[in-house]
Amino acid sequence: MSATDGGGGRGGAKPTVVVVFNQKGGIGKTTTSVNLAVGLAALGREVILVDLDAQSNATTSVGLSSPAATGAYQLLRGEVDVSHACRPTPYPNLRLVAGSDDLSWADVEIAVKPEPQYVLERALETTPADVDVVVIDCPPAFGILSVNAAVAADVVILPVVPSPMALDGLHKAWWNIQRVRKHFNRDLDTMAILFTMTEESELMHRLTEAIMASFGGRVLPVMVPRDLKVIEAAARDIPLVVLDPETPAAQAYLRLAELALTRLIGTGNRELPEGARDRAMGVLREWRKPRPVSHEPGALPPVHESPAVEPGPQPGPNWDEEIAANSDQMPLVTGLGWKIGVAVMLVALGSVLGFAFGRWMYLPL
Ligand SMILES: Nc1ncnc2c1ncn2[C@@H]1O[C@H](COP(=O)(O)OP(=O)(O)OP(=O)(O)O)[C@@H](O)[C@H]1O
Ligand SMILES: [Mg+2]
Repeated sequence: MSATDGGGGRGGAKPTVVVVFNQKGGIGKTTTSVNLAVGLAALGREVILVDLDAQSNATTSVGLSSPAATGAYQLLRGEVDVSHACRPTPYPNLRLVAGSDDLSWADVEIAVKPEPQYVLERALETTPADVDVVVIDCPPAFGILSVNAAVAADVVILPVVPSPMALDGLHKAWWNIQRVRKHFNRDLDTMAILFTMTEESELMHRLTEAIMASFGGRVLPVMVPRDLKVIEAAARDIPLVVLDPETPAAQAYLRLAELALTRLIGTGNRELPEGARDRAMGVLREWRKPRPVSHEPGALPPVHESPAVEPGPQPGPNWDEEIAANSDQMPLVTGLGWKIGVAVMLVALGSVLGFAFGRWMYLPL
């Protein structure tokens, strides 16, 4: 797909497909996809977020639950078009194509279809005309789902955490996407690297420099700092930019959304209208309100708490006797005990008889 309106703005053109990919796990793909999608929506774009990962973290991050009766899996199987695969989210101009466990099977099911690499691109042709941008969150693997996303992409964002192994992994991810581009997607205009979870340290500076030296201008001029608010947002199933639009990582994601509109989507350097950021901040503050918790208007949903775990039995001084006394409540252990005993006796008896029989056979006549 390719944008024809030069900036992801409305106008009935095909939507721009932005894919967030890196085969490495846990480096901020989902956080980036969700906050980019919500940021673009806050900047006034009509956005669909597609959760292609069976873990469904993007789905829960916008406050919806998985499994979905209709979502990415059904879209890939051709059972529904995009408008039926979508669900509304709590954020007005953001819709979600939800992830579900079934996506683990999609790998196998798509692979046996003719031209399996084009399944998603063809499905996205049914995207409603009012949609400006489709953001796709990929699973942490370069499997058929990620290949499909890359084939459908106009823009690929590769998040990377500056770490000792990062450069090698980034090269692999980069060349995998380049291969897709060469063989299946000449429309893929832009590939950009986004540093995530950055920290102020000498080592991180050196690692960042090494990646910059390798990829130069492909590195986006924004870095998402490590920020505890990101973890709080994940725990509350609220996108970070909604939970706290002022926090440093949220500000970075808003800058990313602006960069997406001005530099990644469409052609040429376009400026956003004066005051766009302030209006987006106002929108995000509004979006924080419509998630009241029943009788506490305006309050945020509670942080998830782990279910209480019953403490297991603790070994004490009379542990062996207690086990013996309760042995009738442990039929598996007791049952196994006598079965093992009988088995040992049978083996021993068999050996003795076998030995005796052997001796008898070979006794000199
Ligand atoms: N800027 C940040 N600061 C602090 N924690 C972060 C930041 N970005 C992401 N995280 C945390 O790091 C973890 C991994 O992030 P995320 O789920 O976005 O990565 P991912 O690449 O999508 O992972 P996966 O490969 O499993 O899909 C999450 O617990 C998330 O809350
Ligand atoms: Mg993820």
